[in-house]
Amino acid sequence: MDPWITIASAAVPGSDTELILLQRNDDFAIRIGGVPGDLMNSRTHHSEEALAELACSRLRRIENARVLVGGLGMGFTLAQVLRTVPGSAEVIVAELVPAVVEWNRGMLGQCAGRPVDDGRTRVHLGDVADLLKHRSEKFDAILLDVDNGPEAMTSSDNVWLYSPDGLRTIYEKLRPEGIAAIWSARADPLFTKRLEKTGFDVQLRTVRARPGKGSRHKIFVAQKSR
Ligand SMILES: C[S@@+](CC[C@H](N)C(=O)[O-])C[C@H]1O[C@@H](n2cnc3c(N)ncnc32)[C@H](O)[C@@H]1O
Repeated sequence: MDPWITIASAAVPGSDTELILLQRNDDFAIRIGGVPGDLMNSRTHHSEEALAELACSRLRRIENARVLVGGLGMGFTLAQVLRTVPGSAEVIVAELVPAVVEWNRGMLGQCAGRPVDDGRTRVHLGDVADLLKHRSEKFDAILLDVDNGPEAMTSSDNVWLYSPDGLRTIYEKLRPEGIAAIWSARADPLFTKRLEKTGFDVQLRTVRARPGKGSRHKIFVAQKSR
């Protein structure tokens, strides 16, 4: 089998880690420097798309829906959001590492069909936490896939997102009946409890990495009441 070849790398702002982009024939992988395994791989994106489906299926017929996607990665979640929401929707994607957006505007864009070029997409270059803390706009769905689950991995600053304070802010930034959906490699009963304590009605869904096979990933689907 051909080896993976590093084609680019970029520092993660606010941390001493870097993201590495690798290619093997038509496949791509993003890794965190010094961390074994892939943060994202272009061959396995079923659960990243399920994240979008679970958060946005109720928005299919809602006009002017607003969705926030935390973490662009290879754009699979963003692309599925765009396939799910109507033409009047606005989808903000927050990406911490500017190079990831450049990679998506270049050769990485072919993986998910260039969702950053969609007229409904607005790119926020920066930390999704800053957007949540400092902007007043509200959303019908907030999707987070920035780590391997509710423990900070890409950047230690991400801890805030999963803290009681972070979850309260996410709750406040949702419109009535809005959904927060968080991708995770594993279940985390304490995190489920923390979501419930915030006021969310929580479902933990299991989704395979590929249709019908592969690792069993988890998605926390947390809905705000009316
Ligand atoms: C696992 S990948 C996302 C995969 C994506 N769901 C997809 O479909 O390809 C995680 C992404 O989140 C970004 N990220 C990490 N922390 C972030 C933060 N605090 N704010 C915004 N983006 C962040 C990383 O740079 C990376 O691009």
